[in-house]
Amino acid sequence: MDMDQLKRQAAARALEEVRDGMQLGLGTGSTAKHFVELLGERVAAGLKVIGVPTSEATRADAERCGVPLTTLDAIDHLDITVDGADEIDPELNLIKGGGGALLREKIVAAASDRMIVIADDTKWVPTLGRFPLPIEVIPFGLGATSRAIEKAFAECGVSGQMAVRKAKDGHVFVTDGGHWIVDARLERIVDPASLARALSAIPGVVEHGLFIGLASSAVLAGGEGIRVIE
Ligand code: 5RP
Repeated sequence: MDMDQLKRQAAARALEEVRDGMQLGLGTGSTAKHFVELLGERVAAGLKVIGVPTSEATRADAERCGVPLTTLDAIDHLDITVDGADEIDPELNLIKGGGGALLREKIVAAASDRMIVIADDTKWVPTLGRFPLPIEVIPFGLGATSRAIEKAFAECGVSGQMAVRKAKDGHVFVTDGGHWIVDARLERIVDPASLARALSAIPGVVEHGLFIGLASSAVLAGGEGIRVIE
């Protein structure tokens, strides 16, 4: 089975948790896109749900699939957010933001009663860090912000190269919020919770891709079948 089929299987398993009347956070990325498409099929068959997209790309997908949308200004909470991840550790800490949507993804996940992470099982790692950590920054004062980030890395026992993310056309990648992303190659994040706190305290950092204590469960699809970790 190819990777895309595994992602769709994970999405289908998460869809089993969705009930009529639910308010859903809709994640971003190739795995979350499968969820939106499958949800659209259920909506066409009569399921009543409403979704909050975590990116403009997901908004476009949801509209194409006929999933009704709302905002976090119009409703006061979400029942479930279903989203992908770049890495998942055994504590269900995550690295997210490979698709550049980490800020809205974290706002939506934090507003949800439950966050279900869907992924193929290559995303499951014993320790976070192999995937470069995305850090969303304000372009103003980036030199000072980068030095503060390096200091936070040193205090948390990690080090590595940082690079401003580029889009496919070679220009700087700009997030839906109008910010830039710095990707940090750290290899092994020994204490993700401390690093998350240290990065959050830096004024030029808008948000970072460490999702600590937000995921309630992970649905991992692999050659051996589906594994649900809670
Ligand atoms: C986007 C994300 C994605 O969820 C993450 O990059 C995983 O994407 P994919 O399902 O395509 O592997 O965090 O910001």
